[in-house]
Amino acid sequence: MGILYDEVRKMFKLDTAHTTYLIGVSEEGYVGHIYYGKRLQQFGGRYLMRMEEMPFTPSVNLRDKNSFMDFFPTEYPTSGVGDYRESCLNVRNSVGSIGSELFYESYSIEEGKPALPGLPASFGREGEVQTLRIVCKDPVLGLHVTLLYSVFEREDVIVRSVNIENAGEEKLRLEKVYSACLDMENRDFEMVNLCGSWARERHIQRAELRYGKQLVSSARGESSHQEHPFLALVTPNTTQETGEVYAMHFVYSGNFIVQAELTQFDYVRMVMGIHGEDFCWRLAPGESFQAPEVVMTYSESGFGKMTRSLHDFYREHLIRSPYKYKKRPVLINNWEATYFDFDTEKLLDIAREAKKNGIEMLVMDDGWFGKRNCDDNSLGDWTVNEEKLTTGLSDLVNQVRSLGMEFGIWFEPEMISRDSDLFRAHPDWAIQIRGREPGQSRAQYVLDISRKEVRDYAYECVAKILRSAPITYVKWDMNRQLSDIGSACLPSDAQGELFHRYVLGLYEMQERLVTDFPELLLENCSGGGARFDPGMLYYSPQIWCSDDTDAIERLRIQEGTALIYPLSTMGAHVSDCPNHIVGRQTPFETRGNVALAGTFGYELDITKISEEERAQIPGQVEQYHKYRELIQTGDYYRIASWTDKKPYDCWEVAAKDASQALVTFVQVLGQPNVHSKSIVLRGLDEAGKYRLIGTEEVYTGEELMKCGFLIRDVKGDFQSKLYRFVRE
Ligand code: DGJ
Repeated sequence: MGILYDEVRKMFKLDTAHTTYLIGVSEEGYVGHIYYGKRLQQFGGRYLMRMEEMPFTPSVNLRDKNSFMDFFPTEYPTSGVGDYRESCLNVRNSVGSIGSELFYESYSIEEGKPALPGLPASFGREGEVQTLRIVCKDPVLGLHVTLLYSVFEREDVIVRSVNIENAGEEKLRLEKVYSACLDMENRDFEMVNLCGSWARERHIQRAELRYGKQLVSSARGESSHQEHPFLALVTPNTTQETGEVYAMHFVYSGNFIVQAELTQFDYVRMVMGIHGEDFCWRLAPGESFQAPEVVMTYSESGFGKMTRSLHDFYREHLIRSPYKYKKRPVLINNWEATYFDFDTEKLLDIAREAKKNGIEMLVMDDGWFGKRNCDDNSLGDWTVNEEKLTTGLSDLVNQVRSLGMEFGIWFEPEMISRDSDLFRAHPDWAIQIRGREPGQSRAQYVLDISRKEVRDYAYECVAKILRSAPITYVKWDMNRQLSDIGSACLPSDAQGELFHRYVLGLYEMQERLVTDFPELLLENCSGGGARFDPGMLYYSPQIWCSDDTDAIERLRIQEGTALIYPLSTMGAHVSDCPNHIVGRQTPFETRGNVALAGTFGYELDITKISEEERAQIPGQVEQYHKYRELIQTGDYYRIASWTDKKPYDCWEVAAKDASQALVTFVQVLGQPNVHSKSIVLRGLDEAGKYRLIGTEEVYTGEELMKCGFLIRDVKGDFQSKLYRFVRE
């Protein structure tokens, strides 16, 4: 049983395979946090709420209630009533004051997990997940706050969210609603997060936790290139195999905050939710607000265990696409091949050559519509540019299909160019503040998809094209962040709802798309990887990782991304050299080996690359077919890291039944006078015997996992090699 309640001690015990989460209810009705960590066999630890040592407990000493509120480890802190740490809920009442206080009311436990209306949410069947609802009330405001905990026993994951209902009689305003809080004693925690910029997303960063608040956030309207809705608190010296990790990850694609606060009492408060900046939600009597969910996991065996728990969880309980475990076609995308300069013949030339080399799908990227020959026009005018596609879109699609290839297409449905027929007809459809010229970014504005008629228009443009020809893949792009936040349709007291309503509008459009076209392979993208988040994975099984396709930069990006996301979600392509972003020259083989750790495809003009490089493509494609199932379903182990001062990078994917493993080794810099390196593998069967494919070498699992495997044959900078071990 995942969730237990002890009536006498007023405690909830949430168990996963290796972890326990304990919640207690105080005499006063406060819902306190007791424990999260290694699995406990019995109920215990209630003393961690420290009621006995707190002389300020309100029922004993009302005189000093604030001291209690500022200390008590709570499950869901509210603002305005004496807890000066970061709050999760700020409610303004009808006379304009902020303040709420929650008291336990009731609980229920159910099999399975409820869907969250309008939001992406993890799912699971009876037997896979149980959900606890703790209902709290603020008797003054008439507020009902339901704390939801869904326990995924097998994956060691607990998913949290919150529902706020106005059951009173006054109009309320929610000025902040976070989804989860974790109060714990500090254990010299360090914080690990992912940060970056355009073309270098999700680099891993680690720092000591200091007194005060340290936050990771986005107020850009999307999860962003710069920060990521993920935070882990780890004990000192945590490695891939050892140390404790507390991680939170947000199933949401808009503004977020995740924060760790080290307080005066050496407590840590970790919170996550929708960013409170520019957020305000009207809550009239009878209405409720559902916050997005937070995925929490605890590992007592380092980052590696956290990674594999999250990979399994996302594959099994968040990604819905029929392509989740299916072979994805090896694609060639024309963006880096042609940019805007293409026509039917050019695309067909690429397709013909691609087909000869085993590639299975042509993706036509930006520039096929309106009069778009550069990036400053036509977004919103989703009609085919017949100067480029002279025989029309469906003819092109059919010609590509008659070659035996599939066809995919690019859209940017959320945007509107200043120079577009759509903007000329509906200038108010762009997000903007009344009386102020909205800022352009990449010469475009953002469509106000909080409005139904705007969403319907944008969605219909996409659907119409998909109905017009047998197109099996869509790349849904989004190339700017939101600014000038104002909607022509929302009343003045609801403008603070726009950021969230935008995200809800996006989710609604993508839900329609995957419902109307259930067989479609959808890849999300945002100027590279600015909206690579669990929210988008609910709609698309893969997301374009970064506009930086340089194999060496990709090592960092893909390492950071794979820390929390399955390899099958990472859009990765082989591109031309010198690389268009960093100008680096890397071997074609290494570009292929690095892209193999993701969805795998090409992004180059196959008709123009050298004979020598082109000749390697059939082998790479064959390699993809051979390894993709293992890569899609296996356990990922980070073996060595270039970012961690090593001159090389190495990762392994081991089959869940330990029958085989694929090891990728990339030597970033050659080292003088170093002749071999020992790589210690993981996830194998100690007693098993493994043959290194392509050789006569046989090793025991124990040798490979304890003594290591010697890399002897990789020489020079940027060189790489794959090693496949199969149990005999
Ligand atoms: C940004 C994407 O990340 C690229 O792959 C490409 O699709 C361009 N947008 C097109 O404008």
